[in-house]
Amino acid sequence: MFSISKKQGLLGLDISSTAVKLLELSQSRGSYRVEAYSVEPLPPSAAQEKAILDIEAVGEAVKRAVAKAGTRTRHVAVAVPGTMAVTRIISLPASLSEEEMEDQVRTEADQYIPYPLEEVDLDFEVIGPTQANPSNVDVIIAATRAENVEARVSVAQMANLQVKVVDIESFTIENAYNALIAPNLSSAERSLAVAVVDMGATMTSISVMHNARLVYTREHNFGGKHLTEDIMRRYEMSYEEAGRAKRLGGLPEDYVPRVLNPFMESAAQQLNRFLQFYFSSPNSAPLGLILLGGGTANIPGLTERIAEEVGIPTRIANPFANVTRSGRVPGDALSNDGTAMLIASGLALRSFD
Ligand SMILES: Nc1ncnc2c1ncn2[C@@H]1O[C@H](COP(=O)(O)OP(=O)(O)OP(=O)(O)O)[C@@H](O)[C@H]1O
Ligand SMILES: [Mg+2]
Repeated sequence: MFSISKKQGLLGLDISSTAVKLLELSQSRGSYRVEAYSVEPLPPSAAQEKAILDIEAVGEAVKRAVAKAGTRTRHVAVAVPGTMAVTRIISLPASLSEEEMEDQVRTEADQYIPYPLEEVDLDFEVIGPTQANPSNVDVIIAATRAENVEARVSVAQMANLQVKVVDIESFTIENAYNALIAPNLSSAERSLAVAVVDMGATMTSISVMHNARLVYTREHNFGGKHLTEDIMRRYEMSYEEAGRAKRLGGLPEDYVPRVLNPFMESAAQQLNRFLQFYFSSPNSAPLGLILLGGGTANIPGLTERIAEEVGIPTRIANPFANVTRSGRVPGDALSNDGTAMLIASGLALRSFD
């Protein structure tokens, strides 16, 4: 969406609330290889729930990420969260020229976008014939406030990167699922709806995929940050210390029963609650599988706890399961960070549109 031109050799750049994540993929004979990759943490106040607060600090982090990844590619794809975007599918006569279609899209968009059109970045894409009317095509319109795009462009510019694609996070997850995850599922698993859950630091997004299409998406405020904060409070640690201890261990004995287990309990209950929004949405297909992604998915035993709570098989969502890597990409880092790279993967895949 909001794609400005044809793309080739794109870096995926996910600017999240806690880190910037950079990923470059190459493709040969249908399989993918990681060419460059890095994750650079952000200072706590640089971004908040995906809103970039401190352009300077985020730009510096992107600069470090580019240096670390050692890539020469300068074109990037970035994304805005679904909460910052409006999307709608409309049906237009297939006979319209590109220009006529653009006029129609602007007229339609003006009716439902709650901001003046001159403050909005707008894009559209033909998805295919309209089922009920074969002389029409379904067109998806996506819009976001121009300031959301500008913040990302400014940050990229600070690191000498040029934004070529601005996508929407849920679409990047759809992309990553279809290209990198679905091929590893059995046909029985693929025939039912699959919920891809990205449980990050501050947000948990749910994207339900059915027959290779994104059929439901919603973002909720919940994430691993709650666990970090519990650790900070209980053991009087700084944010950085708590974040490190969470991943590497070394916390006192009462950590598991007093802090970790209650967090896992609450994560499973919250996710169950979030999924009820999907189940109560119109025509929701039954879920056969939950795929848990985001950094929080690395907590040992969390998938089992969720499966038990929700009553649906749950596994880890790893976009790199079948992806090879160039010799300069460290393998251990890649296997640890896979679940946190869903959005970056979907963005990096835009190179192959
Ligand atoms: N091994 C681990 N064990 C427990 N928690 C982990 C582990 N690895 C990462 N995390 C947690 O995962 C979270 C980061 O995940 P992720 O990178 O997906 O979040 P994010 O994309 O930065 O956040 P958001 O999407 O909410 O903006 C942090 O809370 C981090 O502490
Ligand atoms: Mg994230």
